[in-house]
Amino acid sequence: QFNGTCDDRGVLPEVVAHRGASADLAEHTLAAYELALAQQADGLECDVRLTKDGQLVCVHDRTVDRTSSGTGIVSTMTVAELDKLRWGGADEPGVLTLEKLLELVRPGVRLFIETKHPVRYGGLVEAKLVALLARHGLARPKSKEESPVVVMSFSSRAIRRIQRHAPELPTVMLVGSRVTPSAGDYVGPSIERLREDPEYVARAGRPAYCWTVDDPADVRLCQSLGVRFIATNKPAATLEVLRGT
Ligand code: G3P
Ligand code: CA
Repeated sequence: QFNGTCDDRGVLPEVVAHRGASADLAEHTLAAYELALAQQADGLECDVRLTKDGQLVCVHDRTVDRTSSGTGIVSTMTVAELDKLRWGGADEPGVLTLEKLLELVRPGVRLFIETKHPVRYGGLVEAKLVALLARHGLARPKSKEESPVVVMSFSSRAIRRIQRHAPELPTVMLVGSRVTPSAGDYVGPSIERLREDPEYVARAGRPAYCWTVDDPADVRLCQSLGVRFIATNKPAATLEVLRGT
C-alpha cells in the first residue's frame, strides 16, 4: 500500500510534500496539501505547535509573522484568534489545524508530523498529538510499515515520549549533525548531510527520510543511496525525476 511509486524499474522512494506543494502555494495551507495530492505525492509533511487553548495547529515558526497577515507567538494565541488572520489565498479557511489536515489521510497517503517546541511544553505536544491520533484511530496501526502516520522530531526526548505514549507509531529522528541517533525507527538526515557524507544512510542501518530535496541532482542522489522517503517542496518535479520522465 505504501511502497512509493512503482514503475518498470521497481519500487521508488516515497515522495513527501514538505509543508504541502509549498513551492507552488503558501506552506501549511489546505490548498498546498490538496495540490500535493493532485500531484500524486505519496506523503504529506507538516509541523505542529500548540495554541493557547491547547489545539495543535500546522505552523512552522514560533510566530505567525512570516506565514500570515498577523504578528504574534502561536502559543499565546487561540485558534479563534489565528483563524482571523489570512494564511495563503483568499479562499484559505483560517489556520490549518492538525485535525483538519488528518481528513486528507486516506489509503496510500502517509502523513509525517513533526512536533515543534519539544522542551518548552515538557511533552504536552506529544501527549496531545497521541490523544488526537487515538481519537481518529491512527495511534495503533497494524504495523509500523503500514502506518498512515509517522511522527518526527529533532529532539530525542520527544521521540522517546512518542514511543512511550504510542509504541506502535513509527518515528523519524531528524538530524542536522553527523551523529547517527539511537532513537527512532527511521533516520532523518538533511540533504546537505548526504551530499557531504553519502555513506550516512548505509551506516545508519535504518531506512532514511531525507529533507528538503528540491534539486533534480539531489533527488537522483537520494534514489541511488536507497533513501526511503524524500521530503520536497516540489512533489510533481521530484516524481518526474524519479520516474525518468
Ligand atoms: O521534514 C523535516 C524538515 O521539515 C525539518 O526542518 O525546519 O523545515 O521543519 P524544518
Ligand atoms: Ca518540518
